[in-house]
Amino acid sequence: MPASPFIIIAIDGGAASGKSSSSKILAEKFNLLHVDTGSFYRHITYELLRRGVAHTDATALNAALADLKFGTQLNGRSAQMLIGGQPAGQEIRSQDVNSHVSHYAAIPEVRHTLLAYQRDQVNVAKQHNFRGLVMEGRDIGSVIFPNADFRFFLHADPAERAKRRAAEGGQDSIAERDRLDSSRKAAPLVVPQGAIDIDSTFISLDQVVEKMSALIAPKLP
Ligand code: CDP
Repeated sequence: MPASPFIIIAIDGGAASGKSSSSKILAEKFNLLHVDTGSFYRHITYELLRRGVAHTDATALNAALADLKFGTQLNGRSAQMLIGGQPAGQEIRSQDVNSHVSHYAAIPEVRHTLLAYQRDQVNVAKQHNFRGLVMEGRDIGSVIFPNADFRFFLHADPAERAKRRAAEGGQDSIAERDRLDSSRKAAPLVVPQGAIDIDSTFISLDQVVEKMSALIAPKLP
């Protein structure tokens, strides 16, 4: 029997659109590496804030970015980014990071710093014998893996998303992050051409995953 192919699944969408929940289930179901690129941007933001580097200070920012040493460790099926050997803690979900992350993520040098690291997750997945990877973010299907086997874009009504985020606890201005993420020049949040659009406003997480799985399963028997 021929070995099944290594597959790449890209899931993009606005804040709290269900990317993480659906990606994690797909990773379990199909034995894929789960890569949450939002957590990478959050970890870098946390680290830059910790070092007192403002997103408006290009000189300090570039010096700090050049100094960051990335690594990866697995947390179950999820890739966890290490900076200077340290994994991120819950503080990357804090209100402070929520309100700053989109400002740092809009800076081309920040995105450039993460580009090769994100693409290299394919090698991490292969080294650990996963059948593929599911990567979630804002620019996965448009910039990171435009030739991914599957490119999904998750939509949900902003009020519904705000409700979901509030239910998780914590404060998050998702509308403001969406505005910043969609209007930036570098890799804005857009529906990539040819992506499979799923509106999850009125359907359950299980139904979202079912729709995705129905397409993926024939490729990963
Ligand atoms: O969990 P939530 O959907 O609220 O956000 P996230 O996926 O953790 O992403 C946090 C922030 O990182 C986003 O608001 C973007 O500013 C940035 N991000 C990005 O610019 N590009 C990505 N591929 C992933 C996240």
